[in-house]
Amino acid sequence: MNKRTCKLTAGAALAVFLTSGLALAASASADKTITVFKTPWCGCCELWVEAMQEAGYTMKTTDLEELSRVKDQAGVPGDLEACHTAVTGGERKYVLEGHVPVEAVQKLLSEQPGVKGIAVPGMPAGSPGMGYDPDARYTVYSFDGSSDGNSSVFLEAGME
Ligand code: CU
Ligand code: CU
Repeated sequence: MNKRTCKLTAGAALAVFLTSGLALAASASADKTITVFKTPWCGCCELWVEAMQEAGYTMKTTDLEELSRVKDQAGVPGDLEACHTAVTGGERKYVLEGHVPVEAVQKLLSEQPGVKGIAVPGMPAGSPGMGYDPDARYTVYSFDGSSDGNSSVFLEAGME
């Protein structure tokens, strides 16, 4: 009898937690959280995390020695791979691969396109975390997460 009461109480507490969690997810601040998967020894990843934090995002990082499974699960096409993989968004989740600039994240979250995520392949000089230069030109791609590895141009950094 006691055990059963305990279980019910725990269930009720969980329901309250989930309800408040949903309310939080619906608020704008939840959209500004970025969860980053990176290797423990990557300095430029750390600088990208700091740059996004300065731009007002709440950063959560997880260090992993091997990121290939994360990239596979995230549906990042092989030719768009970079050093770190991140996830953001509220109800609709998006993948951020590599040194994605702030303006691309803002565009993604405000326009909510039907893509799996966006990526800056390689590590172009002048991207955030790579000696940030607002005039640096490089391409941000979007990808659909399909096994074909489809991608298209999402934004040309340094062009607006
Ligand atoms: Cu990097
Ligand atoms: Cu990185």
